[in-house]
Formats: sequence, structure tokens, C-alpha cells
Amino acid sequence: MNITVIGTGYVGLPTGVGLAMLGHDVVCMDQDVQKIRNLESGECNLSESGLEEGLERVVASHKLRFTTSMQEAVECAQIIIIAVGTPPVVGSCRANLTYIKSAARGIAKYIGESYVTIAVKSTVPVGTGELIENIIRTKAPKADMDVISLPEFLREGRALHDFFHPDRIIVGTRSTRARNNIKRLYSTLEHAASRIVFCERRAAELVKYASNAFLAVKIHYINEMADLCEKLGINVQEISLGMGLDSRIGSAFLNAGPGFGGSCFPKDTMALQHTGRTAGVTLSLVEGVIKRNKTRLSAMALRILDSVAGIPNPKIAVLGLAFKKGTDDVRESPAIHIIQELIKHNVSVHAYDPCAIQNAQKILGKQVTYFKDVYESITAVDALVILTEWSEFESLDLSKCSALMSHKIILDFRNILNPQNATESGFRYYGVGRGNL
Ligand code: UGA
Repeated sequence: MNITVIGTGYVGLPTGVGLAMLGHDVVCMDQDVQKIRNLESGECNLSESGLEEGLERVVASHKLRFTTSMQEAVECAQIIIIAVGTPPVVGSCRANLTYIKSAARGIAKYIGESYVTIAVKSTVPVGTGELIENIIRTKAPKADMDVISLPEFLREGRALHDFFHPDRIIVGTRSTRARNNIKRLYSTLEHAASRIVFCERRAAELVKYASNAFLAVKIHYINEMADLCEKLGINVQEISLGMGLDSRIGSAFLNAGPGFGGSCFPKDTMALQHTGRTAGVTLSLVEGVIKRNKTRLSAMALRILDSVAGIPNPKIAVLGLAFKKGTDDVRESPAIHIIQELIKHNVSVHAYDPCAIQNAQKILGKQVTYFKDVYESITAVDALVILTEWSEFESLDLSKCSALMSHKIILDFRNILNPQNATESGFRYYGVGRGNL
């Protein structure tokens, strides 16, 4: 099939590459000229496992090409996938639909008279499908089309893997033509037929928010259990294990940590709160989690400051800047928020991350000293704080760390070190929901 994907970000690019790998003829369109030039020359701008290799393959086999021209993107597409960003409106909880509306206007300008399915993959508030349909119908009354909701559930860093192994493919439309088109779209994806779930467009839009918010609630729940465990002298990991073995609960998203971050959970929980309030429904659980996740980050910063209280001009090494491992994305990263709090308290911060330094620099600038080597970053510091669960931190040589540091303090906000090894290497150790220091 001829497929167009509008937007080449964390959702659009892996989706375009995945669909081309399934055998479709894909055009990825973006208005960012530089981005498209880079992609055309084989430069993958995202740190996504397997994406660069996949991209190279489908470009070489002419299954995927790039364009900045909306006309070229729209003219011969059988399915147009909208995958543009919906960041929050600055200073508000609402999702910003500027890029969505602009894509709709672009489609309206060039849409022909033959049938096309327009699938919205961006995370959008309930009713956005209708809004897009109205924009297109007003400008192109003869257009033969369906606007459907096709939310994505890809995780950053594992997007291509998730594309090929979806738990479910939610398709929000009543149209038989659109349903058949989506069945064809995924016909060469193994097990996809049994994973497709058809529902109303507005339901599909809400499934996405409800899922992300539920996962955020689950993380916050275990984080609160971690706080309780610390007071009771219990290891929260034993609670996660014990709870997770119940198949009704499941073990995923039960890792206690510094609080959730990223470009999705903070934004999507706020957008859902807004939807609730607009509809006159208080989503107390979601509202509580939004508030408490923010205060949690400040509490984590305070914990760090307490650990170095009494040390004049403390120096702290932060290991991990990305909002989770496997990505260079620092949007709403707990590490960034916590570092900003530390800086306010005149702490000198050394920072190391295997791939997110460049992005962190754009936010933190010269207020932090950045290192390319993890051991250099901890040399002569008073405390070491782990904020992203990168695998390389699991195998840190703790005796070497101990010899390099001025004071022997570790705060392990991802629980990736063995506390006993840390203490044996002379450290005062703190783990989330494990306690001690
Ligand atoms: C999330 C969802 O998991 C995807 O299904 C969804 O498609 C995506 O948002 C989106 O809406 O685009 P992502 O933002 O990539 O994916 O990140 P997650 O892996 O879900 O992690 C989010 C945050 O929760 C991270 O800060 C992570 O460290 C934290 N987390 C996750 C925990 O603190 N504990 C856990 O057990 C799991």
C-alpha cells in the first residue's frame, strides 16, 4: 500500500520504518527541511535501538523516502498517518493542537477524490478526530475519506521492537472501508490480526490517555509504597516482586524510582486531568499523582542535600540524565529537575550520561560540568547519585569509585546496585524504598 506518515519524531519515524519493513511503500513527510535532509543522507536523529539499521535497509530498497512537500505526501497515499507532536500549551494542562491542525489543513489542500484513510497516531484529546475531519471537510467538501484514531503505544528506546510486537492495535472507527484498510496495513505483521481491536473513534482517543495515566498511577503507587517501606525497614523490591506475581497486577511498572518523567506521562496525565475537568469529572487519582510526582522530585533533591549536609561546598556526581535508559531524551527527566534544585542550593554538579549529555546541555548549559567518562565524573566528588538505570552503572567498580571520591556516599534512585557491595566498599548507601545511609 502507499502510506504517508506526517511527522518524523519519536512516533513517526519508527512507524514509517516499520511499515516499510512490512513491505509498504512509505513516504515520511516533515516540514523541517534540515531534518529531512539529514534523514535523506542516512543520518538518524533518534537514539532508538535498531532504527538506524532498519532505516538504511528500507531506504536502500526504495521502500521509504522522505519529503518536505505536503502535496507529494498526500497525493497518492491510501493511508495518511498523522504523527506530529502534541506538547502541552505553555502554562496550561491542555495539549497543543497547532501541528495537528496544520497537518489537517495541509491534507485538505491536496486531498483528491479517491478514497483515503487518515489515521491519527499522535496522542490527542477526545474529539480531535472530529476536529480534523471538520477542517478537511470544510476545505475539501468532495474528499472521500475517513478520519480514524490509531493511537500508538511505542516506548522510546524500544519503538521499533514495540512496533513489531504490539500488545494491541486499537482502531477507532465505525467505517468498514477504514477497518479493511487498517487490516491490510498490518496484514504482514505476525499475530497482528488477533491483536486488532475495533472501537469508536472517541474511545480509541481515550484509551491512549487512560493507559498512560494508569501506568503513571502504577509507578506512583509503588513509589509511595517505597516511602512506606523506608519507614518500616522493608525492601520495596520484595513488595514489587510479591505484588507483581499476581497476574491481575503484573510485574511491569513496579520499579520504585525518583518519579516518572519523559515526554508522555507528565503531559498526558495533565491533558487527561484537563479533559476530566472540562467534562465536570474530577479524576482525583490522576490529579493526586500529577501533584505528588512533582513534589517527589523535590523530596529526592532534599534527600541528596541532606546526605551532604555539613560538607562545605559539596560536589555531587549525577549519573544519568535521560528520563530512562535507552534514550537520549531528557524531556521532563527527573535528573534535570533534581539537578536544577541542587544548583539552587549552590551545589557543584558533575554529570555523566552515555548519550544524553548534548540534550541536557541545551537545558542546563554551563551550570553543570559534563564528563565523557563515568569515573572522571566521580573523581573528588562527595556523593554519587544514580538517576537513570543505564546498565553500565550496574557494573560500576565500587572499590575504584570509593578510591576516587572525597566522601563515600551513594544515592541509588534506581535501585540498580547491590547495597551490600556498596557498604563493603566503604560507602554510606541509600536505595529508594530500601533505606539506609
Ligand atoms: C510511555 C508508554 O509506556 C508507551 O506505551 C507510550 O506509547 C508512550 O509513553 C507515549 O505515549 O508515547 P515512554 O514515555 O517511552 O513510554 O516511557 P516509559 O518506559 O513508559 O517510562 C516513563 C517513565 O516512567 C520514565 O521516567 C521511567 O523511568 C518511569 N518508570 C517506568 C518508573 O519509574 N518505574 C517503572 O517501573 C517504569
